[in-house]
Amino acid sequence: MGFVIAVDGPAASGKGTLSKRIAAHYGFAHLDTGLLYRAVARLLLDKNRPLDDEKAAQAAAFALELAYMDESRLRGAEMGEAASRVSIIPAVRAALLDRQREFAAQAPGAVLDGRDIGTVICPDADVKLFVTASAEERARRRHRELESRGAAPAYESVLADIRARDARDAGRSSAPLRQAEDAVLLDTTTLGIEEALAAALAVVDKVRGAS
Ligand code: DC
Repeated sequence: MGFVIAVDGPAASGKGTLSKRIAAHYGFAHLDTGLLYRAVARLLLDKNRPLDDEKAAQAAAFALELAYMDESRLRGAEMGEAASRVSIIPAVRAALLDRQREFAAQAPGAVLDGRDIGTVICPDADVKLFVTASAEERARRRHRELESRGAAPAYESVLADIRARDARDAGRSSAPLRQAEDAVLLDTTTLGIEEALAAALAVVDKVRGAS
């Protein structure tokens, strides 16, 4: 069993970028678990199935091949919204559980980011971070990112989407988004990526030094 770092937080909190950087710093593997839910949603849409078809969603989750996920077809706000919808189905979450735990067990270590890593997937993780930022700041970042790609909806509509996704991710009954009791809160509202990374590495180094 390697060293496990669980990173959870709401949509557009910067947890993905941060997790990638943490993994690179320590030479650990990284899994963006949101991609799993996005891939399940993609499979349903490709088959013209509704996102609340529980049987089809469960079958899609079992059939997922981690190595064959085409990230370019999974990114984007629309797929995030679709992923959020299939992720409320308990059978989908159950079908993806072992895959995530197997990934987490690899040596020398792994960083997993998502919504329920510290609470459900890896409750015994060596380090748990809960990365957040105000909804307004997350909407500003997402809006800037969309603008740089040349297709930005109004800031207000980006903010409304973020609020709706927060409500669904935190309000569902199966493994809702919440901070684990033993997670360290990292509020990045006023932090740049380098500052956030430095803060995260300080938390991890403290634990590694002590073990
Ligand atoms: O992190 P993301 O935006 O790629 O995630 C998309 C959706 O997938 C998110 O709104 C809720 C769901 N998700 C989840 O339920 N549990 C996870 N560990 C990761 C994502």
